[in-house]
Amino acid sequence: MKLKILVGTMTNTAEYAAQAIEMDCADLVDHIEVLLMDGLDISVFDEDALYLICCSTYGAGDVPDNARALCDSLDTAPRFLGHVRYGVIALGDRTHAQTFCFGGKKFDERLHSLGAKRIGEVFCHDASDGSMAETEAAAWCRTWLASV
Ligand SMILES: Cc1cc2nc3c(=O)[nH]c(=O)nc-3n(C[C@H](O)[C@H](O)[C@H](O)COP(=O)(O)O)c2cc1C
Repeated sequence: MKLKILVGTMTNTAEYAAQAIEMDCADLVDHIEVLLMDGLDISVFDEDALYLICCSTYGAGDVPDNARALCDSLDTAPRFLGHVRYGVIALGDRTHAQTFCFGGKKFDERLHSLGAKRIGEVFCHDASDGSMAETEAAAWCRTWLASV
């Protein structure tokens, strides 16, 4: 099984988390590919792989700039994604109480509405609690992969 991690980030925290997963979880899947979301559209889900959305939150609960085109394409070029199984790591900060982790949650809503099947709960990382996103995400992902 291949794990494809799609990274939406503004200041690289989500990318570091994905890289930590790539190193820590290599023994649990055949191959891990980390892809920044820049320039991607809905066709990225054409491959037969397990998907992990790893995405932060900006503005008033928006996805980061590099994730906008992919997120929009789920609306503007929708297609049935019933073959897709995915997980979500949503990065945010609880001081933004009204929009906590909305970036990752936005992807979850859109993928769900297109028929994709989420495995497990959305994992939310809170930048305000002092924990390291890389450490938390890699530990969560090991458990998540075991449940797939
Ligand atoms: C200008 C700005 C706006 C933000 N807006 C939100 C928000 O609305 N909701 C939220 O949960 N986190 C918000 N955050 C927190 C980031 O999502 C969080 O720090 C995250 O870990 C950053 O990850 P990244 O470096 O991969 O972009 C905001 C951060 C900044 C700097």
